[in-house]
Amino acid sequence: MRILYPFILSLLLFISSCSRPRELTFMVGGSPNELLYWEKVIGEFHEKTGINVKLIRQPTDTDQRRQGIVIALRSKSRDPDVFLMDVVWVGAIASSGWLEPLDSYIERDNLDLNKFFSRVVDEVDRYRGNVMALPVYVDGGLLYYRKDLLAKYGYTAPPETWEELLQMAKKVQARERRKNKNFWGFVWQGAMYEGLICTFLEFSSSFGGGITIDSTGRIVVNIPQNVEALKFMQDLIHGYKISPPNTYTELKEEEVRLIFDQGNALFERNWPYAWGLHEKNPELKDKVGITKLPHRKGKRSASTLGGWHIGISRFSDVKNEAWEFVKFVTSYEKQRDFALNLGWNPGRVDVYADTVIEKTAPHLVLLKDVFENAVARPSLPYYSGVSQILQKHLNSALSLSETPQEALEKAQNDIDEFIKKYED
Ligand code: GLC
Repeated sequence: MRILYPFILSLLLFISSCSRPRELTFMVGGSPNELLYWEKVIGEFHEKTGINVKLIRQPTDTDQRRQGIVIALRSKSRDPDVFLMDVVWVGAIASSGWLEPLDSYIERDNLDLNKFFSRVVDEVDRYRGNVMALPVYVDGGLLYYRKDLLAKYGYTAPPETWEELLQMAKKVQARERRKNKNFWGFVWQGAMYEGLICTFLEFSSSFGGGITIDSTGRIVVNIPQNVEALKFMQDLIHGYKISPPNTYTELKEEEVRLIFDQGNALFERNWPYAWGLHEKNPELKDKVGITKLPHRKGKRSASTLGGWHIGISRFSDVKNEAWEFVKFVTSYEKQRDFALNLGWNPGRVDVYADTVIEKTAPHLVLLKDVFENAVARPSLPYYSGVSQILQKHLNSALSLSETPQEALEKAQNDIDEFIKKYED
């Protein structure tokens, strides 16, 4: 009998594991309406497949989301099985060996990768030739503006250059302030977090600079065009005073979106998700326009490539179920639902030709080229370290603790040092 005990025990464990309802854990963050939407999606997935999905909620801030996922993966935890990753950390997570390559699943189910933005799949989702993730949505920075207010002050079109934006914002802010002292010309993300890198990349690229990697592999941030762009960002707050003083202490995506939603701003820099929310706001209905971000006269508009990708943990014990979920979320139907309900830009190109999208979300079709030409942040295994250094110095310039020149010189030195240490 004694010999039989271990056998019976394993049998019982086996039976109980077989009868356990299959459950997936899915880690995702976002704004409150996005999290609510995910609940609906997992309900539909359950109905279709019988697979339960447990949502592990995360905040909106990408840096905090990264931390949550990295902590779980570093400890080889089985949860989460599947998660969304910011475009900017897919490379690092893949190079740590924490992602399940998707090629065999893609092949088995004949998933056509050509349906997705191929530049995005090639540059972001592939690691050493293998597909490690798929794009759920692509993001790009956009300019939102109040059509009604521009018309009220005699402007027939939104600004194309930063000089025009400045002129319009100064005039409209001064006049609107007479009845609304909380009114601002232009709101954008300047707090110390990843979003500041995105706005800086847009300002600097549209001034003719950017964050580049030279032929020796060095990340270059300290160039005159970038100094000029950072000075402009600083001036928006402290010189022209068309952006609020809490830009550098508090303003992230949702804070910026709320200022605009409350009718307290003429221009807003944000991602496409804000469109759906502004449209749902009865106070703003039909008053909001969306266009490319401005550029310095003689230069070109730039939008940072953002977006979120779905991948499966290598430590998951329900990889097949996780793959079913990946397929569901990246399917034509779901991508169309995301676009229509959340304003997200599909990671699939085929959805842009959908007649329903053309009718109800024309801005997505109109701005497709913005996403195809968006500027990417450097894709490096140690990107988050570089980002933190840059965030710190950019934010110091915005708070006037460093001059733009000093900020970029220090950032350059610290980045060089950091990379040297990383490579040693
Ligand atoms: C958005 C973008 C993401 C970016 C983040 C910065 O979520 O999709 O790529 O890193 O904003 O706040």
